[in-house]
Amino acid sequence: MITPERIAAYIKSLDKELPPELYNLEKEALENMVPIIRKEIQGVIRFLLTIKQPKRILEVGTAIGFSALFMSEYSPHDCKITTIEKVPMRLVEARKNLKSEAFPHRNKIKLLEGEAMEILNNLANANETYDFIFLDAAKAQYLNFLPLLMKLLEKGGLLLSDNVLQDGTVINSRYSITRRDRTIHTRMREYLYTITHMDELETIILPIGDGITISYRKQ
Ligand SMILES: C[S@@+](CC[C@H](N)C(=O)[O-])C[C@H]1O[C@@H](n2cnc3c(N)ncnc32)[C@H](O)[C@@H]1O
Repeated sequence: MITPERIAAYIKSLDKELPPELYNLEKEALENMVPIIRKEIQGVIRFLLTIKQPKRILEVGTAIGFSALFMSEYSPHDCKITTIEKVPMRLVEARKNLKSEAFPHRNKIKLLEGEAMEILNNLANANETYDFIFLDAAKAQYLNFLPLLMKLLEKGGLLLSDNVLQDGTVINSRYSITRRDRTIHTRMREYLYTITHMDELETIILPIGDGITISYRKQ
């Protein structure tokens, strides 16, 4: 948590309630320690979906399908959502949730199973493009994914990257980071530097949730 807790709690208290089936899935995920998008990030995504009205969403990191189902709820009726996950245990739950009749917009979603790097490569080779990309997978890989994401992101499209401030530790000196976390720390700083300095992108870093960036691909 990088915003003061009382402020985050107050903002949360004003948030719209989730439809009951999404509320139940969120509760189940939190009880089972599945890392899903936080309330504050839900607000950002819902807001952006409302103004952007995307037609083709790509998500990297499905987990059990919460954010994909969340986006299916707040995106236009003809929007298609492709989401990628590789961990078998998560896939079992994702398949089940994405088929559940409890979620009226589930048919918008296609789950692609496997390593994201490989799948992104296949999508780029097939000339697929997206006007909204949500990156929420292994943080150390964000920088590796970026060239492929740039092939897949349409001009005028948005790229959101979650968990970029890593509980605030991203601002710490490399030497104060435990050896175990140094690679991810360095790579996230490189990622943030790159997306904030690329000519093709206009990027804002928002210090809410665990930190999120919103990048707009210039026309
Ligand atoms: C933070 S969770 C995603 C949460 C989900 N977006 C939500 O809010 O409901 C990240 C997920 O990305 C998956 N993941 C991480 N690296 C991946 C990769 N290289 N390829 C495919 N999936 C990956 C993990 O297995 C994990 O389930």
